[in-house]
Amino acid sequence: MSTSLFPVQRRAPRQDAEPVVKWAGGKTRLVPQITALFPATWGRYYEPFLGGAAMFLALQPGGAVLTDINDDLITLYQVVQNDVEALIADLQRHRYEKNYYYAVRAQDPTRLGRVQRASRTLYLNRTCFNGLYRVNRRGEFNVPFGRYKNPTIVDEDRLRAVSSALNGCTVAHMDYATATATAKAGDLVYFDPPYFPLTRTSNFTSYTAGAFGPDDQRRLAEVFDDLTDRGVACLQSNSDTPFIRDLYSHHRVHTVTAHRAISRDPSTRGTVTEVVIANF
Ligand SMILES: C[S@@+](CC[C@H](N)C(=O)[O-])C[C@H]1O[C@@H](n2cnc3c(N)ncnc32)[C@H](O)[C@@H]1O
Repeated sequence: MSTSLFPVQRRAPRQDAEPVVKWAGGKTRLVPQITALFPATWGRYYEPFLGGAAMFLALQPGGAVLTDINDDLITLYQVVQNDVEALIADLQRHRYEKNYYYAVRAQDPTRLGRVQRASRTLYLNRTCFNGLYRVNRRGEFNVPFGRYKNPTIVDEDRLRAVSSALNGCTVAHMDYATATATAKAGDLVYFDPPYFPLTRTSNFTSYTAGAFGPDDQRRLAEVFDDLTDRGVACLQSNSDTPFIRDLYSHHRVHTVTAHRAISRDPSTRGTVTEVVIANF
C-alpha cells in the first residue's frame, strides 16, 4: 500500500473528549476490540457514518474526514467545532420539564439558527426517552420525553474537549459514498453503518427518514470493494448475519462481542457477536 498524500497525523487523544450524544449503535464499549484490528499507521482517517463519534474520539487522528447523513447531528458537530462557547451559553436556557421538551421537539430545526439548532439537538438527546435519535417517515424527531433524575444538559468540559479534538478536521453532511470518494491509497476508512437486522423485527434503522435496507448494504459492499481496489484500508462493523458474511466473504471477517441494549425484540438483547470486516 503506498503512502497517502497526507502525512500520518497522530496526536495524544484528550481523554476527556467523550461522545456528546447518546447514539444507537454507539461504539464506546467496543473501541478496544475494534481498534486492536486497526493497521499500525495510515494517512487520512475517514469516518463516514459518524453517529456518536466514539471511534474518532478514542483515536483523535488529526485532519480526519467526519461525515454523516444526519443534518441535525452534523450541524451539532460543526457548532461544537467552531462555536462551542455560543453553544454552551445557549444550552443554559433549556429546562428539564415535559411541556418544555415537547415545545422544543415541535420546532422545525431547519428554521432555527445554527447554534439554536445544535442546542436543540443536544437538549433533546439528553432528555428524550433512552437517548435515542429516531425520526418518522417525514424526518421529524419523534422520541417521547425521558424520565431521568437529573440529566446533564450542559457538560462544558466535555464540549470544549470535543471541540478541540475536532480542530482541523473536516466535518460535513453527506452520503458515505461521496465522503469516501476522495480517499487515497494508504488512508483508512472505518464504516459503522446502520446494521443489517438480526431478525425481521429487530431493525432499528430510523436514524434518518429513509431506512437502510438490503440494497443499501449491497451498495455499501460495492463502495468497500472499490476502495479496496484503490488501496484504501477499510474496516466495517456490521451484524453477524449470513447476509453480511456472504457480501464480504472475499474479505477478512473478524468477530467481536457486544452488549446490545436497543432492540424491540427481547431475544436480541444481551450479548451478541458482531463482525468487523477488514480488507487487509
Ligand atoms: C450505527 S450509527 C453510527 C454509530 C457511531 N459509530 C457511534 O459510535 O455512535 C450509523 C450512522 O449512519 C448514518 N447514516 C445512515 N445512512 C447514511 C448514509 N447513506 N451516509 C452516511 N451516513 C449515514 C446515520 O445517520 C447514523 O448516524
